[in-house]
Amino acid sequence: MSTSAKTRIVGSSVPRKEGVDKLTGRARYVDDMHLEGMWHGVTVRSAIARGLIRSITFNPGIDWSEFTVVTAADIPGKNHIQLIFSDQPCLAADQVNHCEEAIVLLAHPNRQRLREAIAAVHIEYDPLPPVFTIEESERQDPIVWGADNLFKSFLLEKGNVDDAWAGAAHVIEGEYRTGAQEHLYIENNGVIGEYSEAEGVTVWGSLQCPYYVHKSLMAVFGLPEDKVRVIQTETGGAFGGKEDFPSVIGSHAALLARKAGRPVKMIYDRLEDLAATPKRHPSRIRHRTAVDASGKLLAMDIDLATDGGAYSTLSSTVLSRATLHACGPYYCPNVRVRSRSWATNTVPYGAFRGFGAPQATFAIERHIDEIAAALAMDPVELRRRNFLRDGMTTATQQVMRESVILEELLDRALRESDYYGRKKRFALENPNNAIRRGMGIAAFFHGSGFTGSGERYLNSLAGIDVTPEKEVRVLVSSTEFGQGTNTILTQIAAEALGLDAAHVVMAPPDTRVVPNSGPTVASRTAMVVGKLIERASLQLLRRLREQARLGGEFDSDEFFSACERLRSSCGDVVSLCRYEAPPDIFWDDQKYQGEAYPAFAWSVQIAQVAVDTLTYAAQVEEFWSVQEAGRVLNPVLAGGQIEGGIAQGIGYALYEKVQWQDGHMRNNQMTNYIMPTAEDVPPIHVYFEEIPFRHGGFGAKGIGELPHDGPAPAVLNAIRDATGVSFHAIPLLPEDMLGKLAVPAPAEEPATV
Ligand code: MOS
Repeated sequence: MSTSAKTRIVGSSVPRKEGVDKLTGRARYVDDMHLEGMWHGVTVRSAIARGLIRSITFNPGIDWSEFTVVTAADIPGKNHIQLIFSDQPCLAADQVNHCEEAIVLLAHPNRQRLREAIAAVHIEYDPLPPVFTIEESERQDPIVWGADNLFKSFLLEKGNVDDAWAGAAHVIEGEYRTGAQEHLYIENNGVIGEYSEAEGVTVWGSLQCPYYVHKSLMAVFGLPEDKVRVIQTETGGAFGGKEDFPSVIGSHAALLARKAGRPVKMIYDRLEDLAATPKRHPSRIRHRTAVDASGKLLAMDIDLATDGGAYSTLSSTVLSRATLHACGPYYCPNVRVRSRSWATNTVPYGAFRGFGAPQATFAIERHIDEIAAALAMDPVELRRRNFLRDGMTTATQQVMRESVILEELLDRALRESDYYGRKKRFALENPNNAIRRGMGIAAFFHGSGFTGSGERYLNSLAGIDVTPEKEVRVLVSSTEFGQGTNTILTQIAAEALGLDAAHVVMAPPDTRVVPNSGPTVASRTAMVVGKLIERASLQLLRRLREQARLGGEFDSDEFFSACERLRSSCGDVVSLCRYEAPPDIFWDDQKYQGEAYPAFAWSVQIAQVAVDTLTYAAQVEEFWSVQEAGRVLNPVLAGGQIEGGIAQGIGYALYEKVQWQDGHMRNNQMTNYIMPTAEDVPPIHVYFEEIPFRHGGFGAKGIGELPHDGPAPAVLNAIRDATGVSFHAIPLLPEDMLGKLAVPAPAEEPATV
């Protein structure tokens, strides 16, 4: 397929569907909503990391009859958050397993009174010994979860690793660590819950996955499908942080509403959101790699461990994606990846843009530079020599059937950044300068959509309908949270139907209105749901032609007239399509082999970094990102995804450090958990190569997570290039470099007194 396949709307930068409402303040976030008689809800949380709850007492200085008080005893259904293993209680009943775990809920009309009330709830504990690190959990003493502290493990094997060491020219080992990272969406978690015997439960909220919340509420309340309704309100960012957590806060608000007999709103402030909600899994990844004298990979033995926190939530799937991205975009005949996710007594770690791939990519892409150093080879050439190419197999024996153009991406990144020219200049300047500059590179891929058989299980349903008001509506549970869902899906429908983008709107993200098109995660929306919308639109056109005399050429009036003819003969104008797995995609969950993903997006990023050897401050000065993510549906939005992911990736590498103390996040403020600001984000140059993917919406693959995978290794590789010192852990703050930059002071005039 040529990249210039004729389209009118797909491929153009149609303005954001909800952009004007957001700009003018018309967009309504959950905290803008007020329901008649609504109260506020708050959470009383565990003060300790692990222990038995001995007693809960309420200070008699407060008139508790004014309050609604909910504990685990008030849960009508199951006391768990329905997810993969459903081990996380909705409210702690007899035991707590992490600081800030929810124990008691309170509601009252007055927010100020609630603050006093929280302080008046006394919880006594019999403390149990906690574990806080991967190493402590591995010791399995104490056991804090299940029989062995282990949420999940995978073993991925290809060829024979053990036989490869003997014939190797070099064996290179390295250990790499990544820290927790907070999402820092602009809007904190927030919901409104309502309950009535007749209607059941309704939850409005800032969330990614209405049907995840729906499923969890059914379990907590013991209600059937049609007695639970979830509506996404305008959502100010999510990044994975609103994939599973809204099921927790949504259940809490609805439990308070049920007992209070009135709607209850729960909005976290930043302190609470930072301290009590999930973050990115910390990881420790060990590589042992055999190469021949020319730098060709012979064997990769990888031991990957993540800290999953107190409950399993999404740790198994995050671990799976980390495992499948552990080898990077390279061909290696012999591979073993052994991975484990461990329980600790911190807030459960969860989904965050990249979902395990940023951790795995940091390790492999730093390690590749270490291999190059050991071989005294150009890290660019080492990568080039080992790239996956058409027809080669990944660690899971997935054959590269779609074109892989990593070398083209690499060459373009080198050219656009003048990589070698700059390196040469810095090599001359650095010895005479306290500021050392370097160039760093990362090459990587990101699997689009759910892993393995995931999309088959999801079995997504999506489509369009046409209202009598002459509006085409996109029917999906896929949500907008800043990334562009509304815009690209309406573009796809308009393109396929031959209408203008203005004729197509999104149906409200309400489980009573839209079918389950799956969760808005895993870089799946443009590719998987986009394809369903494309198919549903073409299916409707066929019906209009066959059943309502729509001509070959038509304008919008003729289209909507044909829709009315179809309506009068069929009753409605709806076209839905269900996911169909591409026929050549096969995955074996037992052997962990086959097509791990229907498609991969590919990228090469280059960072120019300056390290001040006097202050130890590292600054990313310029950044280049070249990627192939299939067809670009909307260049402005796609570019925005890349720039945003890079900004977050730079924060991951150089700024964002969670400080723990006895299991509490101590720096739960934006003044001391430091994210990059405009000052820290360099000029970013973004380039797309496009190879349309047959099974993606108008050729799109996933783009949302890809750009977050590369910046951390690119930046640390640049620091190595600048200073000659290898750092193996992120975040890398000045205090982490203090005393470790073995660079001689620049040659300067002798100091004068
Ligand atoms: Mo996303 S990290 O797959 O919610």
